[in-house]
Amino acid sequence: MSPMREIGIGVVSLGWMGRLHSTSYQRIAARFPELGLRPRLVVAADPVPANQEAAREQFGFARAVASIEEVLADPEVEAVSICSPNFLHRDFAVAAAQAGKPFWIEKPMGVSAAQSREIRAAAQDARVATAVGFNYRHAPAVAHLRALVASGRLGRITNMRCWLMADYASSPDGALTWRYDREKAGSGVIGDLLSHGADLVAHVTGQRITEVSARTDVFIPERPIPTSVGVGHGGIEVGSARGPVANEDWVAALATLSGGAHATLESSRVARGHRSDYAIEVYGTEGSARWSFTRMNEFEVMLGEGGAEHGYTTVFAGGDHGEYSRFQPGPGIPLSFDDLKTIEAARFLADVATGSRTAPNASDGLAAAEVCDAIVRSAASRAWTDVPEVEGTTIGF
Ligand SMILES: NC(=O)c1ccc[n+]([C@@H]2O[C@H](COP(=O)([O-])OP(=O)(O)OC[C@H]3O[C@@H](n4cnc5c(N)ncnc54)[C@H](O)[C@@H]3O)[C@@H](O)[C@H]2O)c1
Repeated sequence: MSPMREIGIGVVSLGWMGRLHSTSYQRIAARFPELGLRPRLVVAADPVPANQEAAREQFGFARAVASIEEVLADPEVEAVSICSPNFLHRDFAVAAAQAGKPFWIEKPMGVSAAQSREIRAAAQDARVATAVGFNYRHAPAVAHLRALVASGRLGRITNMRCWLMADYASSPDGALTWRYDREKAGSGVIGDLLSHGADLVAHVTGQRITEVSARTDVFIPERPIPTSVGVGHGGIEVGSARGPVANEDWVAALATLSGGAHATLESSRVARGHRSDYAIEVYGTEGSARWSFTRMNEFEVMLGEGGAEHGYTTVFAGGDHGEYSRFQPGPGIPLSFDDLKTIEAARFLADVATGSRTAPNASDGLAAAEVCDAIVRSAASRAWTDVPEVEGTTIGF
């Protein structure tokens, strides 16, 4: 085998996702050796000094700086991760593209479809590879469900159900972070969780969502203002002052798909008891299949007529499914959330290095954003709302 080529990486924002992108790059050489790539963590950017120190000390970056400009100006940086709060995505992604740097950006791609459109246009103009953080696609069971639909074994797909329930925001004493602010996050649980659902429905069925009818609500209208920063949803201190929650806690939507199937999507960030329950069910004329993130390493399937044993069979993930065998040599050994991100990192860098199109890209990010925006509009108007079509996605089989 020829020697591994080093590829210089910059990571912007060292919170939950920035840390996970960093460790994911570091696992590529071992898990995807045929790529011949050895990512080198060149520079991380985060305004919080403790995160800069963590970047150097814990994650092994050669340098840590306060702002993205130094990352984009560094000629050793060949690919960039953008793991910032949503309101920074547009400016950071457009700047990365204009600097000629391919980028892997977290979902939702910007605070609106308009921002997603700007991001995609900048990437297309600069002809840089892109990847978007739709990590649930990469679960071996989800990859297999898509393959099952594509093979025709479920028959004609009639309907799909997607459910993304979490309770990270179920305490009224949880901090009023950027996620509850319209300017900084855009929509609430729609952008945060349902964007994954919009992508999963399209990815698994191979059909795009063409129209939606939705309802939203805010169940916890105010929260305490934070007095410190944290990572992800944790470690944030609050004071006694409270402020208003500006975006939705809950959403439910009916959707029509381009191949004639239907979908129902529901998501909540305040569903007390559901820690992170992200589930999909796909139904066809010859069978159906279902998966939940709470049992990420298995799926249930029913094909044809089962006679006296008619019903679901539980299948544990193994070498027949997606990228499972990258991580474990034998079946039934659980993969983790972090493994999904390693797959995403590998696809991004494969696309950067070879020009392939294996990662969910900026067009997929825009397609999901168009669905999310249409859901926001439909909830406001209480009317069925069309979803604009996006070219260049990886949705079709
Ligand atoms: N794919 C997934 O499953 C998933 C999961 C969680 C979060 N996300 C997405 O990842 C993104 C980040 O979320 P998170 O949970 O990591 O947030 P976080 O709050 O943990 O981290 C955000 C980081 O951004 C830094 N930051 C703030 N201003 C900055 C600036 N001007 N320049 C550089 N860095 C700056 C903060 O210091 C912080 O370290 C969001 O878009 C979110 O929706 C995706």
